[in-house]
Amino acid sequence: MTSMTDSRFNLPIPYGWYAVAMSNALKAGESMPASYFGEELVLFRTQSGKAKVLNAICPHLGAHLGYGSSVKGESLACPFHGWEFNGDGICTDVPYAQQMPPRVADGKQCIRNYPVVEMAGAIWAWYHPEGAGPLFEIEDVAELSDRQSWSEPTVTEWRINAPVQEMGENAVDKAHFETVHNIAEMPASDIRTEGHRRTSIMDMRQASYNEDGTRNEDELMDRNITTISLGPGYTLQRFIGLCDIVMLGTVTPIDAETTLLRFVTVQSKDISETGEIIAQAMLETLNSQVEQDIPIWNHKHYQENPILCDGDGPIAMYRKWFSQFYA
Ligand code: FES
Ligand SMILES: [Fe+2]
Repeated sequence: MTSMTDSRFNLPIPYGWYAVAMSNALKAGESMPASYFGEELVLFRTQSGKAKVLNAICPHLGAHLGYGSSVKGESLACPFHGWEFNGDGICTDVPYAQQMPPRVADGKQCIRNYPVVEMAGAIWAWYHPEGAGPLFEIEDVAELSDRQSWSEPTVTEWRINAPVQEMGENAVDKAHFETVHNIAEMPASDIRTEGHRRTSIMDMRQASYNEDGTRNEDELMDRNITTISLGPGYTLQRFIGLCDIVMLGTVTPIDAETTLLRFVTVQSKDISETGEIIAQAMLETLNSQVEQDIPIWNHKHYQENPILCDGDGPIAMYRKWFSQFYA
């Protein structure tokens, strides 16, 4: 992790629900390593199918529980000496000890655990720097599991050298759409905030696409984009008009200055041939916009008191909402 003295951002990790893996990446009886929240983690799925997230370093003699461990019932057995820990970070068995050592006896927690929910096709871990329990809830996304009407989800991931706050701030940074993304006019959106929830509704007329997927600036189409953010780690966007696309954007702090950004997208199956081409072009545009933002994110320095002008978009308002997630 970057030390505070050479930090480009100086922001702590905000609390919230963060996607730590896609659900289908972890089958019952499997474990895997992960690095998030500035910690080494282990993810495992118990024999009964429940996903669990623990800090990965075994309190016995320090083996990493993400490599070579085995699931035994509802617990995870360390690969080094076989001590077993459940999803609450409680030692459930020391196979060769006559007596449980006092530090793990009587159901004492000996490994930090993270509350887990599974929805919208992902495993979400609750992070709070002081270990407080969940302070809000996230919501399922019906389209992501509806194979009848919606396509198989496409997952794209980027590792970005900037904190999670930057990814959301980008969307309200109106002026950069022209300079970085070459999009001339971004219409204003109707933004509402209510506690951890932030909703933005944008109605726009936007350039259409030609049959070959290139943008057609001469033909405009109506689009509606509704964005719902639930805390810092969950952003759902519904793009409606001509081709319907649902995109779940997840941002997960690897550490205070590094983020895993993930787009999970599905498109409506009820779509014309041209609509299909447009949907592909739209998805490529969304991905290429991230690639255009990355060089800025990877080198920028966070301005706590930026000089803003009237055309900048609601950056200050976004920061005020986001600041509630810094404990
Ligand atoms: S290091 Fe894990 S059981 Fe010994
Ligand atoms: Fe951008």
